[in-house]
Amino acid sequence: MTARASTVASRISATGTANALELRGLTRMFGALAALTDINLTVRPGERRAVLGSNGAGKTTLFNCITGDFPPTAGTIRLFGEDVTHFPPHERIRRGLRRTYQISLLFAGLSVRDNVYLACRGVSRYRFSLLRPRRDDALMASAEGLIEAVHLSDARETLVGDLSYGQQRQLEVALALAGAPRFVLFDEPAAGLSPTERRELVEILTNLPSHMGFIIIEHDMDVALRVAESVTMMHNGRIFKEGKPAEIESDAEVQALYLGGGHG
Ligand SMILES: Nc1ncnc2c1ncn2[C@@H]1O[C@H](COP(=O)(O)OP(=O)(O)O)[C@@H](O)[C@H]1O
Ligand SMILES: [Mg+2]
Repeated sequence: MTARASTVASRISATGTANALELRGLTRMFGALAALTDINLTVRPGERRAVLGSNGAGKTTLFNCITGDFPPTAGTIRLFGEDVTHFPPHERIRRGLRRTYQISLLFAGLSVRDNVYLACRGVSRYRFSLLRPRRDDALMASAEGLIEAVHLSDARETLVGDLSYGQQRQLEVALALAGAPRFVLFDEPAAGLSPTERRELVEILTNLPSHMGFIIIEHDMDVALRVAESVTMMHNGRIFKEGKPAEIESDAEVQALYLGGGHG
């Protein structure tokens, strides 16, 4: 086998049967503060997992380490079988990883369609092309598909600044889905939403393609339990419980810590 063939073969076997995500001994210090301590977490391809925990538990830091925005102080990160611990963020994006942010990063002066189109273009091989985008190209078609998937078809020409808050969060989901990712990290997408908007978001997330796994950070236990098939509870930078939604919901320790006022 040539070197190239063996590399391709190992890549295929790495992506075929491997876990979507494997964290081993992940630790992140900020000076003397341990934001994450010895996190071990495995997520299967297509699995939908919720991460719950009070403010400051380390949830966003966990995402920042997985995406490469912050390097971990110790530990390893494997993505679809490949060790990406020292890869820059764009190399992880290339391997199918996406995220949303807790704070909105939308272009307020652009329409919904232009935002989604630019996101599709940004992750495509045409991203450095100076050719003027044509409205009928394949990227535009995928943008339209994403707009529909997040229930914004009626608002496709609306400027982002004129969207409701709930619609803006739906748009953020669309941006994270650009370029057909394999694994997505959603950082509190339901924060600040009304009950109706929450129901809509739950429907959008539930209807994502089944091969697309994700982790959702969520404060609202009801949202988390409806979209996720497994739950990881974090506290003070550590994982203290994992299980099925029903097990977590009825767990006495979880209730005492999380439902008993510990979360803010
Ligand atoms: N960039 C940073 N610099 C210093 N400390 C940080 C930074 N980001 C997070 N922290 C600290 O790490 C801990 C975990 O924060 P974070 O991951 O944002 O928690 P969560 O998302 O669960 O609310 C907190 O104590 C927070 O103050
Ligand atoms: Mg956070």
